[in-house]
Amino acid sequence: MSEETIPDYRYVFQKDLLRGKVAFITGGGTGIGFTITEILMRHGCDTIIASRRLDVVRSAAEKLSKATGQRCLPLQMDVRKPEAITKAVDEALGQFKQIDILVNNAAGNFLCPAENLSFNAFRTVMEIDAHGTFNVSKAVFEKYMKNNGGVIINITATLSFRGRVLQTHAGSAKAAIEAMTKHLAVEWGPNGIRMMCVAPGPIADTEGMRRLGGEHIDDAMVKAIPVQRLGKREDIGNTVLFITSRAGELLTGTTVIADGGAWLTSENNFWKIKNSPMFKQMSKM
Ligand code: HXC
Ligand code: NAP
Repeated sequence: MSEETIPDYRYVFQKDLLRGKVAFITGGGTGIGFTITEILMRHGCDTIIASRRLDVVRSAAEKLSKATGQRCLPLQMDVRKPEAITKAVDEALGQFKQIDILVNNAAGNFLCPAENLSFNAFRTVMEIDAHGTFNVSKAVFEKYMKNNGGVIINITATLSFRGRVLQTHAGSAKAAIEAMTKHLAVEWGPNGIRMMCVAPGPIADTEGMRRLGGEHIDDAMVKAIPVQRLGKREDIGNTVLFITSRAGELLTGTTVIADGGAWLTSENNFWKIKNSPMFKQMSKM
């Protein structure tokens, strides 16, 4: 899927809100991470986007810079590999001299009942989401934020709040990230670092939604969401922007749930979902 910038972005905050700041976004070449990056850049921030596929981050960086006039450095990096992370953070600091904002957005997911998850499948998702978040946070802390402060925002999910069906792996990983966020908020607060999570609900036009059966969402499912609509990538970008702003200065060690209330009402009956045509079709993928 080729990413496109927002054609008609409407500013809520001042355009120069993040002038002079630098943000590092993992998985910033696609989906929610791409739009978070775009919105930070639209507010004067320079960025680094890092993921496994260099061609993807390169093409995204070109589009983002063209649309916003800010600098965007694309880097190849697997969040499971500490050496690659160290190299990427060094490269970012070599170019920009600072990293004020880190967004841990990279993740991996698929629908799968726990009984069908291989040991490696569970480990893989834990390693990308939970270990990856720790790895990148630690590298950025050691190399910059320890002495300069900053904001770290981890993108989680609402999966673990109710024990969501078919998501033992991703829900466990995101729950670990939420706990980690609290621990690091306590330890790193005195260094001037705020640690936050943003937990999106179902967000339209994303790989995450596609993998979780997005094309099967019908009007009744949307009407079950309290705000009566799916989330947009822009909603998550604006939430991240708010947290980084001065308006968010007292926020740390907690989660902003940006889901329109979806987790309160969404279907979560294992027997029913396992026997639905949607799950039967997806299980064959
Ligand atoms: C069951 C699966 C599987 C599936 C992979 N595995 N896909 N098991 N169902 N659909 C198993 C494999 O068989 C293997 O186990 C193990 O997982 C590792 O798979 P690899 O392909 O070797 O791993 P890797 O190349 O590292 O890729 C990681 C990945 C992949 C997570 C499996 O899908 C990926 O790179 N995803 C990144 C993009 C993504 O997922 N985006 C969505 C994020 S959305 P065995 O035992 O066979 O070796 C998101 C939404 C959260 O997180 C909440 C929404 C509400
Ligand atoms: P996405 O487009 O697939 O984004 C995932 C990104 O992570 C990709 O850019 C991918 O790039 C990168 N990535 C994956 N594994 C990596 C690794 N090992 N090292 C480095 N980068 C890696 O999916 P999305 O739907 O936008 O999801 C973004 C975030 O939002 C995730 O944290 C997800 O859990 C969360 N979320 C999404 C939804 C939703 O409805 N979409 C709901 C709740 C939460 P490469 O393949 O190039 O590495």
